Amino acid sequence: MKLIFKILIGLSAVVIEALEITSGKVFSRPTGRATSCNLTGNSIDELNAIKSSCKNIVIENLRVPAGKTLDLTGISDTSITFRGNISFGYAEWKGPLVLISGSNVNITGERGHVFDGQGARWWDTLGGNGGVRKPRFFKIRYLYNGVVNHLHFLNSPRHCFAIHNCTNITVNNVVMNTKDGDTQGGHNTDAINVKGSENVFISDTIVYNQDDCLAVRSGKNIHFKKAFCSGGHGMSIGSVGNRTNNVVEDVYITDSIVVDSENGVRIKTVVNATGLVSGVTYNNITMRNITDFGILMRGDYMNMPGPTGTPGNGVPILNVTITNVRGTVQPNGTNIYILLGQGVAQNWYWNDIDISGGTRRRVCQGIPPNSGAFCA
Ligand SMILES: *[C@@H]1O[C@H](CO)[C@@H](O)[C@H](O)[C@H]1NC(C)=O
Ligand SMILES: *[C@@H]1O[C@H](CO)[C@@H](O)[C@H](O)[C@H]1NC(C)=O
Ligand SMILES: *[C@@H]1O[C@H](CO)[C@@H](O)[C@H](O)[C@H]1NC(C)=O
Ligand SMILES: *[C@@H]1O[C@H](CO)[C@@H](O)[C@H](O)[C@H]1NC(C)=O
Ligand SMILES: *[C@@H]1O[C@H](CO)[C@@H](O)[C@H](O)[C@H]1NC(C)=O
Ligand SMILES: *[C@@H]1O[C@H](CO)[C@@H](O)[C@H](O)[C@H]1NC(C)=O
Ligand SMILES: *[C@@H]1O[C@H](CO)[C@@H](O)[C@H](O)[C@H]1NC(C)=O
Ligand SMILES: *[C@@H]1O[C@H](CO)[C@@H](O)[C@H](O)[C@H]1NC(C)=O
Ligand SMILES: *[C@@H]1O[C@H](CO)[C@@H](O)[C@H](O)[C@H]1NC(C)=O
Ligand SMILES: *[C@@H]1O[C@H](CO)[C@@H](O)[C@H](O)[C@H]1NC(C)=O
Ligand SMILES: *[C@@H]1O[C@H](CO)[C@@H](O)[C@H](O)[C@H]1NC(C)=O
Repeated sequence: MKLIFKILIGLSAVVIEALEITSGKVFSRPTGRATSCNLTGNSIDELNAIKSSCKNIVIENLRVPAGKTLDLTGISDTSITFRGNISFGYAEWKGPLVLISGSNVNITGERGHVFDGQGARWWDTLGGNGGVRKPRFFKIRYLYNGVVNHLHFLNSPRHCFAIHNCTNITVNNVVMNTKDGDTQGGHNTDAINVKGSENVFISDTIVYNQDDCLAVRSGKNIHFKKAFCSGGHGMSIGSVGNRTNNVVEDVYITDSIVVDSENGVRIKTVVNATGLVSGVTYNNITMRNITDFGILMRGDYMNMPGPTGTPGNGVPILNVTITNVRGTVQPNGTNIYILLGQGVAQNWYWNDIDISGGTRRRVCQGIPPNSGAFCA
């Protein structure tokens, strides 16, 4: 057995070279030095060595083994570039297929790259509610000061892009195309899901999927602008309630388009749960060909077996501004529906709303007076 320590005093890096075992097998830990900063092929064995010695990591045409996470956690002051086709073996497990954490990380996709989830291998119309276990796709968690640029996701097995417990995150030009799920059994293929995160700036997202385009479950100061959402459930706050963190504060959803979707914009809170939604702005939203609800504000949400019809009042929904929202709903849908417990909605301001086409009127509850809010 041969052991070499190289400690480079005076430099910021301390490199402890690999422990070489006579069998020829190399352990690269506690830290190893990578021979290249490019990860490619069908193994992720080099990843720890690359993470500990590279500040510019290139991940290129990688086939991640089945049941394994491409684990880019614990990274700091590093840029990660994805190139070519990043694909994943098939296993029935919870994922995520890719996980990134750390601080000061730039994540960039090169022109022509793709994360190919090949979701059809799992799709069975049941999503997260049953059938085979489907992995979540891409997650950033405990990432501080991260910039994500130009990622392209194809056919997510279920939820595509999660931002959990992060601070100071910018996400620009991400494409999530799970359109094949429309005809091949995709379900719960949420695009962007935010929990427990602060200062998140998402811009220029393009989504084709079968669930929420955006779902903000908890967090503060979340911005989502210039999105195009097609085929899913619209741009949502919630569901809020019945989780560890049930507080949503200051969300700005602006300059976006939602087409061929169940809902345009919505806030949904879990029936009889507690929590808080405070400060939501929807401004300059265009919707087209919405099947169910143009604008939906409901306090009776339950995933299974479905909304109860009787809203609770444990989740106040304060300071909701909806301005310059227009578009069309299919004839059997409802343009605007509000179903909230008495006193839940306070300090709302709605103005310049023009949604038409839906002919199904529903009995509303909890519309805050003198707010401009209405049902139609
Ligand atoms: C590794 O990535 C660098 C930087 O993009 C590139 O110049 C080089 O050709 C790559 N090497 C291999 C072996 O892929
Ligand atoms: C990330 O990109 C910004 C420019 O957008 C640059 O200033 C910064 O140094 C980069 N950080 C890393 C860790 O590469
Ligand atoms: C990506 O690679 C996988 C595995 O090699 C392959 O099955 C898939 O078709 C590729 N996807 C694209 C978009 O080229
Ligand atoms: C987030 O950004 C702000 C403003 O740039 C900075 O003061 C703060 O330290 C950052 N937070 C983290 C966790 O890095
Ligand atoms: C991470 O987020 C969860 C859910 O939002 C929350 O319960 C937990 O306290 C957070 N952890 C930290 C360290 O912030
Ligand atoms: C409103 O949003 C659309 C995209 O849907 C954008 O093209 C337009 O510039 C926005 N208007 C303003 C005033 O920002
Ligand atoms: C409207 O949306 C439905 C999906 O709900 C879609 O099948 C149909 O093609 C869309 N119609 C138009 C005119 O885009
Ligand atoms: C919500 O609370 C009300 C009043 O306590 C109760 O009647 C109702 O059954 C509860 N709903 C659910 C789904 O638990
Ligand atoms: C209302 O919410 C918006 C965010 O949507 C925020 O900018 C504003 O400060 C809030 N106003 C009050 C009075 O809380
Ligand atoms: C309206 O009809 C479409 C199909 O034509 C269906 O998908 C949708 O669920 C219906 N909406 C409601 C609110 O029943
Ligand atoms: C609350 O969460 C639990 C566990 O996920 C779930 O079983 C239950 O149905 C949820 N309750 C409601 C009202 O959604």
